[in-house]
Amino acid sequence: MPTVLDGTTVRMFSVGEVAERSGVAVSTLHFYESRGLISSIRTAGNQRRYTPGVLRYIAIIKIAQRAGIPLDEIQGALGDYDPMVRVTAAQWKSMATRWRKGLEDRIAQLQRLRNELAECIGCGCLSLKACPLRNPDDKLAALGPGPHFEDS
Ligand code: FES
Repeated sequence: MPTVLDGTTVRMFSVGEVAERSGVAVSTLHFYESRGLISSIRTAGNQRRYTPGVLRYIAIIKIAQRAGIPLDEIQGALGDYDPMVRVTAAQWKSMATRWRKGLEDRIAQLQRLRNELAECIGCGCLSLKACPLRNPDDKLAALGPGPHFEDS
């Protein structure tokens, strides 16, 4: 169904067509819309219609979810752009660069945790003095003497 947006005739998609083309369930599309990740316009009969650009938004959402990016963060990134307009390659590159940095930070954090797990001998002591999981990098030493945890 063609619609005129900003003086341009655009082929609009029903929610079923978007679901079919994106491989995402209709209920998921409704959820994305309720979270402000995508948006639609309504027909006179109150049916949702989407611009073709929504398919790129959905692709970005799925990629970001695979990377473990929280929905709030995805929404924040997509919120920088007009949901009725196709996301450009430059805009996608900007998002991907930001998320790649976040992923690298998380990978480094997980590698540190993996190393601490390897250093823990698993004796069950969970000691602040002896277990690297309980006191990573001996950070408590820098805080000086005295209690630093309510449960310690
Ligand atoms: S539980 Fe004893 S060293 Fe980690």
